[in-house]
Amino acid sequence: MPNYTLLLRQGRLLHPDGRIETVDIALDGNRIAAIAPHLDLSAPEVLDLENQLVSPPFVESHIHLDSAMTVGQPRFNQSGTLFEGIEIWRERKQDLTLEDVKERAIATLKQQAMQGVLMVRTHADVSEASLTALQGLLDARDAVKDWITVQVVAFPQDGLYGSPQNERLMAEALSRGADVVGGIPHYELTREDGVRSVHRIFELAEQYDRLIDIHCDEIDDDQARFLEVMVACAIRSGMGSRVTASHTTAFGSYNNAYAGKLLGFLRRTEMNFVCNPLINITLQGRTDTYPKRRGLTRVKELWQQGVNVSLGHDCVCDPWYPLGTGNMLDVASMLLHVAQMTGTAEMDACYNMTTWHGAKTLHLEDQYGIEVGKPANLIVLDAGDRFDAIRRRATVRHVISQGKVLASTDAPKSHWYGS
Ligand code: FE2
Repeated sequence: MPNYTLLLRQGRLLHPDGRIETVDIALDGNRIAAIAPHLDLSAPEVLDLENQLVSPPFVESHIHLDSAMTVGQPRFNQSGTLFEGIEIWRERKQDLTLEDVKERAIATLKQQAMQGVLMVRTHADVSEASLTALQGLLDARDAVKDWITVQVVAFPQDGLYGSPQNERLMAEALSRGADVVGGIPHYELTREDGVRSVHRIFELAEQYDRLIDIHCDEIDDDQARFLEVMVACAIRSGMGSRVTASHTTAFGSYNNAYAGKLLGFLRRTEMNFVCNPLINITLQGRTDTYPKRRGLTRVKELWQQGVNVSLGHDCVCDPWYPLGTGNMLDVASMLLHVAQMTGTAEMDACYNMTTWHGAKTLHLEDQYGIEVGKPANLIVLDAGDRFDAIRRRATVRHVISQGKVLASTDAPKSHWYGS
């Protein structure tokens, strides 16, 4: 017999296809035990959801927790470019300590979790000999594992071949337990180094049995074509569903003939894409006069082709982006505008990119979703449906993690005193 621990009464359960049905949900410890229109049972804790929307939690597919909350240290990014951001971070990371990284990461994770995020993929810069950023994030991952799932990407910010020690540091990071192999081929010293780095990343992923997530072609250069190298490696290795291409902003600058060819090759893989619209609409197109490019990958076309696309906040208050709270509805809203995805199915897709699609990118689909037997992770939104959630940046009223109420937020209440 199940031992019901928490009963959620009368929530409007959102399914991935958009259907919404009013149900009771019973939890047995950290598992979902029963879902039905009315459950005739009791539990020590009961929460009346008052017809609010019940959704699986948000998934943050791409964030840099090692640099989060460092904006202005040691100075602000005045040009607003990616490359000034990298220079500022190079200065700031000289002062990193394990405590500094861990404290900022956990503070940011709490802020994310309060807004409904319960799965996070963070990149950790592994360009420093001390590997402080990586170790700080591995420590944070372990410290929070009872309430949020964190994946750590070993990310060679200065290039896998940017200095002689970096390849060794990558191997060390994977030995210490990084979950994912990262890369940045468009920032390697030469095009040849970029190609070589992609091949090496695939080798390391096979050797250590890890996932892959590469910062790929995050530049306005329409000749940045490392995505095709990733696609070729994914086809030949058969590792497609374990591979993610992040940013790929140059895809937005490719000519249509080349982009069409690449989309065809992509269909032979099950690769995932991560778009970071808040950051890339800010960083890209800086060297353009007018017309200015939007600097985003081709999200609408990828989605139309059935390619898995999910979303990331990328930065929260750091050298690349001074704003942000970690709210995934902000990310979905920005994407909807910049990618011109305002059709009803398109807006709903933007919501799914912050939820189900993110779980697929993180390769955690088997642990995700509101179904009997799955882990009891869900959120309750003050929203009618997916569109309404994005439009009003709906308040996440309750966050249930591993069967327990992790956080609750009161809905804002306005008072009108005019005529
Ligand atoms: Fe990034």
